[in-house]
Amino acid sequence: MQDLLDSALARIEASQNLADLEAVRVEVLGRKGVLAQLSKDMGKLSGEERAARGKFINQAKQTLEGAYDALKTKFEEAALAARLDAEWLDLTVPPAAAITSPAPGKLHPVTQIQWEIEDLFRSMGFTVLDGPEVETEHHNFDALNIPADHPARDMQDTFWLEGGWLLRTHTSPVQVRGMETLGPPLRMIAPGRVFRNESVDASHEHTFYQLEGMMIGREVSVGNLIYFMKTLLSSIFKRDVTVRLRPGFFPFVEPGFELDIQCLICGGSGCPVCKHSGWVELLPCGLVNPHVLRMSGIDPAEWNGFAFGLGLTRLVMMRYAIDDIRWLQSGDLRFLEQF
Ligand code: DAH
Repeated sequence: MQDLLDSALARIEASQNLADLEAVRVEVLGRKGVLAQLSKDMGKLSGEERAARGKFINQAKQTLEGAYDALKTKFEEAALAARLDAEWLDLTVPPAAAITSPAPGKLHPVTQIQWEIEDLFRSMGFTVLDGPEVETEHHNFDALNIPADHPARDMQDTFWLEGGWLLRTHTSPVQVRGMETLGPPLRMIAPGRVFRNESVDASHEHTFYQLEGMMIGREVSVGNLIYFMKTLLSSIFKRDVTVRLRPGFFPFVEPGFELDIQCLICGGSGCPVCKHSGWVELLPCGLVNPHVLRMSGIDPAEWNGFAFGLGLTRLVMMRYAIDDIRWLQSGDLRFLEQF
């Protein structure tokens, strides 16, 4: 009996892997295994012998199962370790996708130029204000000295909304909000999206961007206006620019001007870009109409100021020689990836 047990134990311990071990288990511990054989003739034994045999079988069972379990655990742990080894990842290696995928997104060219101008004006003590795109008739027109029957309303085709609301046609209403909430003295700019009810073509969009500016102080002059505009334009075009003022009409400024810059392409001698005039019309501006100050609660006897309206969309088109305004709102990546 002891021999049987010893050889069964030896066979278990000879297993090299889980598969061997399973085969041996069936042979040794299974229904036809050693233990089963030992129990087979129990019925023929005397009471004493049967007790001794029973005890032996129990111990043998424990020994064999113990050996089996120990080996099984050992093989399973080895298998797990092998698997972990095979599946090991170096998480510090940059993924291939990070190297080969397209570059991360960039800012839209209008945003780029807007942020540049914001930085410049902040450095000169201006506040950057935001205003609503859905405006009241009061802020967009009346408070800017454009009453309902004024012909200037026709200069800006308006998207009217229900209840007398409208989509702002320019960023000038933010001037009014700035005067109302901050009061004088005031240095503010207001970049933003504006809307016109126009048919779209290469040079007209229903949606585009402007940047409004306003300075109110005790003795603001056309000289101040020219200084700030020259600083702005030299910074945008990264060189000295020569400017000139021509009279222009806007109900909220008096006097009102069109500011031109000397053509940067030909230096003023005349070329197709400036239509051979030597000058390019760039931005409208003027001294704030006293009536506009008064309507926003500012005493024109004490305060005056200048205002200007810069077409951001147009500026981007000039800077990058973009010949069709529709590209800017297209969302077309072939266009946007160039900036
Ligand atoms: N708001 C005008 C427009 O969109 C532009 C403008 C003109 C703004 C003269 C000004 C200004 O501040 O002084 O057509």
